[in-house]
Parts: sequence; C-alpha cells; structure tokens
Amino acid sequence: MLRALELDDSEDLGPADQLRVAAQAAAPVHQVAALLRGEGQLWADQSDEALLAQGQAGAQAGAQMAQQGLPRLEGLTEAFATPGTRMLDVGTGVATIAVSYAEQFPALTVVGIDVLPRVLALAAQTVAASTVGDRVTLRQQDVNTLDEPNTYAFAWMPAPFVPEQALREGVRRVVDALVPGGWLMLGHGKFRGVPVEDAVSRFKTIAYGGTALDDGQAQQFLRDAQLLEVMTVPTPPGSPAVTLGRKASPG
Ligand SMILES: C[S@@+](CC[C@H](N)C(=O)[O-])C[C@H]1O[C@@H](n2cnc3c(N)ncnc32)[C@H](O)[C@@H]1O
Repeated sequence: MLRALELDDSEDLGPADQLRVAAQAAAPVHQVAALLRGEGQLWADQSDEALLAQGQAGAQAGAQMAQQGLPRLEGLTEAFATPGTRMLDVGTGVATIAVSYAEQFPALTVVGIDVLPRVLALAAQTVAASTVGDRVTLRQQDVNTLDEPNTYAFAWMPAPFVPEQALREGVRRVVDALVPGGWLMLGHGKFRGVPVEDAVSRFKTIAYGGTALDDGQAQQFLRDAQLLEVMTVPTPPGSPAVTLGRKASPG
C-alpha cells in the first residue's frame, strides 16, 4: 500500500518519518471510507483525526521550499530573509503548512485563511503547540473575499480543495494580493496518463468539491490570471504537483 501511494517504505525511517508516512497513508483510507459512506462532499465532517492526518502531508512544505523551490524562484530568497515579508496560505486547514513555513523562515509572517471554523480551531491548536505563534495569523475568510492589494510575496493555494468557480475568482484575488514580483504556487493533482489511476484521482478531487487540474491546465489557469514565468516543477513522490507563476513588476 505504501508503494501504491508512492510513500517511502524503506525500513530505516526515523521515528518522526514513520509517523509522517503512517499519517499520509491513513489520509486516503479515511477519504475513501468517507466517499463510500456517501460523505464525500463534506470535508468538515471528517474526524479531527482524519483532518490532522491529512495535514501531516504538509509538515515538510517549508523544508522542501527551502531546498527545491527558492533556488528556482527569483527574488524570493531575499524576500524570505527580510523581516516583515508575508506569505498567504489559502485553505490553511489545520495549519501544518503555515507553521512549517514559519519554522523554516524566521523572518516570514504567515497568514492562513480558511472557511471552516472547526478546522480553524484545530489550526489554532497546531499554532499554539508550535514555537512560531507570534508569526502565524489565522483568519476565517473565503479566498473569494480577499481584498489586500500588494501584500504578500508568496501565496500557496491547493486546487484540489477549492471548487472551480471559486478557484478562478480566488486566483484573481490572490494575484491582486501579491506584491509586484511575488509568486503564486498552485498545488494540483498528478496525472500520469494511467487511465484508471487518473480517473480515480479526478473522481476523488471532484467528490471532495475541488478542481482537478493537470500540469497543462494549471499552467493555463495561471496564465489566464496574467501571471508570468509560469512553470510546473518536479515534486517528491506523494506530494502534489505544483505550478508557479509570478506577478509582473513595473518596468
Ligand atoms: C486539505 S485542506 C489544506 C490542508 C492544510 N494545508 C493543512 O496543513 O492542514 C484545504 C482547505 O481549504 C479550505 N477551503 C476550501 N475552499 C476555500 C475557500 N474558498 N477559501 C478558503 N479556504 C477554502 C477547506 O476548508 C480546507 O480546510
């Protein structure tokens, strides 16, 4: 099962990695069980345990960004080292990604928004248990109401959890909220051309009320939002695909 999910099944994982891999393996089992019970639409109705397990997939996000993302993204290394620089985490869930970035980049302030009060209550626990609570702000807000022009150097947005119409308007608002030269990273599915596998991925994404985008569709989405330097970059097995675009700088 670990191999089918492209999770690391080597025997020499340390205890922390074992917990992370176990949580990542548990998340799709919880999801499929919920779909079979006819509860697929209801992200909020999953148990706290399932939400926290799913969140663990983001625990390495900050470290992955430092190692693989920053070297490719012009201007962001300097921005992330500048106190006061802001990052927006759309659909922050239980805030694992938000905390991971704040831990990795000590100059960064992270704003996490989500529509669900119950999820935000779990997120508040994650932040309270961390050492970076003074630099992570949580807010109940739909991305479609975001109105903070020129505020964030970087934004993360997960397409598989936001319905298509909301995603299109949300991306427009997030782009407006980026500073000139800022980057948007859009998470999306990995479709490898294996028909059954791809169909199951799309089914799960849509059943959960999200948007199933392949690399080409994600790139088009960002170009439609006037972003430049659009690219899909490689990510480790088990992580979502990511496509990035940059807001134009004047001149
Ligand atoms: C899978 S979760 C993200 C996991 C998260 N990164 C973590 O660390 O737990 C996706 C979240 O997006 C939120 N979401 C969906 N539509 C949204 C919208 N229009 N605006 C803001 N958040 C939204 C959902 O409520 C859900 O909590």
